[in-house]
Amino acid sequence: MPYFRRLLSVSFSFFHSSAATREKMINFARGHPNMGLLPVEAMQEILSKAASATNQERLQKSLNYKSDRGDPELLAEISAFMDRHTRTDDMGTPPTEADIQPVESLTTDMFVTHGVSHGLDILCTTQTQPGDVVLIERPTYFLAQDIFTSHGLRVNSLPMKEAGGVDVDRLVELLQTGEMEPPRMIYVIPTHQNPTGRTMTIEDRWKLAVIASRYGILVAADEVYHLLDWRDDARDGRRPARFAVLDSKIASQSGTSSPRGCCVTVSSFTKTFSPGVRLGWIEGPKEIIDSLVNLGYIQSQVCF
Ligand SMILES: Cc1ncc(COP(=O)(O)O)c(C=O)c1O
Repeated sequence: MPYFRRLLSVSFSFFHSSAATREKMINFARGHPNMGLLPVEAMQEILSKAASATNQERLQKSLNYKSDRGDPELLAEISAFMDRHTRTDDMGTPPTEADIQPVESLTTDMFVTHGVSHGLDILCTTQTQPGDVVLIERPTYFLAQDIFTSHGLRVNSLPMKEAGGVDVDRLVELLQTGEMEPPRMIYVIPTHQNPTGRTMTIEDRWKLAVIASRYGILVAADEVYHLLDWRDDARDGRRPARFAVLDSKIASQSGTSSPRGCCVTVSSFTKTFSPGVRLGWIEGPKEIIDSLVNLGYIQSQVCF
């Protein structure tokens, strides 16, 4: 299917290359932004500031090797940015299961990537083995499946509700009754899912985070659309918190989760700024971030 889709999109551009026709055709195969929406002026301002004589020391630093998680100042900026924009997210009610002990402090770790796709790829490299099972929503973001199969993963469907959306209760039941072997990984797009646009409730997010923690399943939450949410809080309720934040409340310090941790948020500035900057991040438990850092090619960008 992805191959067919790609073929379709190539033929689209081939057959409809005249300017007049291109204006009329909308290619739904890929979510590419309109050229006129790209932040050209903002980028000009950023680049001229970055290159100015008063910024020489900063520029010098940026031309050197970095820390293993990425540029520390950039990491701090991303972290502060996310904190600023998600402070009012809905945390719902943390679970009270006996084996899950809610903790007070947020201690997520962060790692700079070249976008969500890069983030998913290195998670597969460090956290999975060929032959492992990854469960995905049906339908889902069509390029994600290619990333998983390129790592030799077996891609199966999550239980889905008839009306659409992940049937988290059924997943819990399947795992608890032993009808389903715990997969190594679950890939979800919790907010404004591509292509359905659905948003997973905070109750389902907690259930998924808890079951993942219990069975040592890695939840890779692709939260690239998290900030593209202009809901009216009073009318629609608050936006449910992202997975890395929920995870940090239950897993990283409870001592009950798998030593390999469980939920990570994979995100980027592709949808909020520009896809061409190829800038993203992974937020999650320290154990998982540490595993990324140990990759050989990541070590080669480190300033010792
Ligand atoms: C769900 C989802 N994840 C990831 C991406 C791509 O993200 P990135 O450009 O950061 O690799 C897209 C782009 O359409 C998407 O819809």
